[in-house]
Amino acid sequence: MAELKKEFLNVYSVLKKELLHDPAFSLTEDSRNWVERMLDYNVPGGKLNRGLSVVDSYKLLKELSSSKKGAQLTESEIFHSSVLGWCIEWLQACALVLDDIMDSSHTRRGQMCWYKLPKVGMIAINDGLILRNHVPRILKKHFRSKPYYLELLDLFHEVECQTVGGQMIDLITTLVGEIDLSEYSLPTHRQITVSKTSYYSFYLPVACALLMTGEKLESHSGMKDILIEMGSYFQVQDDYLDCFGDPEVIGKIGSDIEDFKCTWLVVKALELCNEEQKKILYDNYGKKDPESVARVKDLYKTLKLQDVFEEYEKKTHEKLNKSIDAYPSKAVQAVLQSFLAKIHRRLK
Ligand code: IPE
Ligand code: MN
Ligand code: MN
Repeated sequence: MAELKKEFLNVYSVLKKELLHDPAFSLTEDSRNWVERMLDYNVPGGKLNRGLSVVDSYKLLKELSSSKKGAQLTESEIFHSSVLGWCIEWLQACALVLDDIMDSSHTRRGQMCWYKLPKVGMIAINDGLILRNHVPRILKKHFRSKPYYLELLDLFHEVECQTVGGQMIDLITTLVGEIDLSEYSLPTHRQITVSKTSYYSFYLPVACALLMTGEKLESHSGMKDILIEMGSYFQVQDDYLDCFGDPEVIGKIGSDIEDFKCTWLVVKALELCNEEQKKILYDNYGKKDPESVARVKDLYKTLKLQDVFEEYEKKTHEKLNKSIDAYPSKAVQAVLQSFLAKIHRRLK
């Protein structure tokens, strides 16, 4: 596993070098240095779960569908699955650089958000666009001659549409909440989480691996449903950790309460609170001052949302396991199980 990660990180250096010399961007010496620093700051510093899981998933699919247990991947297979993994990490970096501006965040992955650096500021918006435009350049260079190239381009594009669509709902829903907090509901929350998180974080890595094996995506709609469900679970965890996680461990300081976000926690709080508690929520939710934020957090604790979350986590895990066990292909089952194991009861 450590070996795989080392190889994966090597591929990052290869891609970075290619992009820094890609004539399409007409870089100057200064802008080349800027892009290099921007990439190193924003692309490789995360958990790399999404990227690595393309390689993992491809390995499992190949092993189990050819029933060659322990079959080694060729150098080219490792390289190409890693490249697709990095494309997802690039897309994620783009999403996060821009998300942190929109959410007025402070830290990310244990360091200051990119836009918060004194010399960066709103240049980060264009950096986000650079990151986004790197993806089709990488795909063209390494996949243009593959039979599944067009499907790959469509896949990335469609997933990106889902993600920005989800970010849009995440952002404009706060305007509705500011008028009437009780508009926040589980269905709205689900719509946000599925589109902003599930598609790019869960469906995309497995879909990339499937395309590499020569499979058609349409024949795996059941698999997609399970991954979407898992992504929703992952975002509920993200909402929970925003409030109850340790910033040292999750690498970011939560801001959902300040930002008036339609989170799983606030939806549950609205479901469980009495009239008096509802007033506390109405008076303090979405306020920037630390006292208001503390009052909301106290209310979450009074309502025992930590226990409610634990119960949700247990139930969701059971439900996901059942759906995975019922899936017709052993290879896909293995992929889904490995995904679930990576996120279940995560602390970061
Ligand atoms: C954003 O969700 C998801 C994307 C970047 C597409 P959040 O706003 O909850 O993510 P964090 O908590 O800032 O990482
Ligand atoms: Mn955010
Ligand atoms: Mn979050």
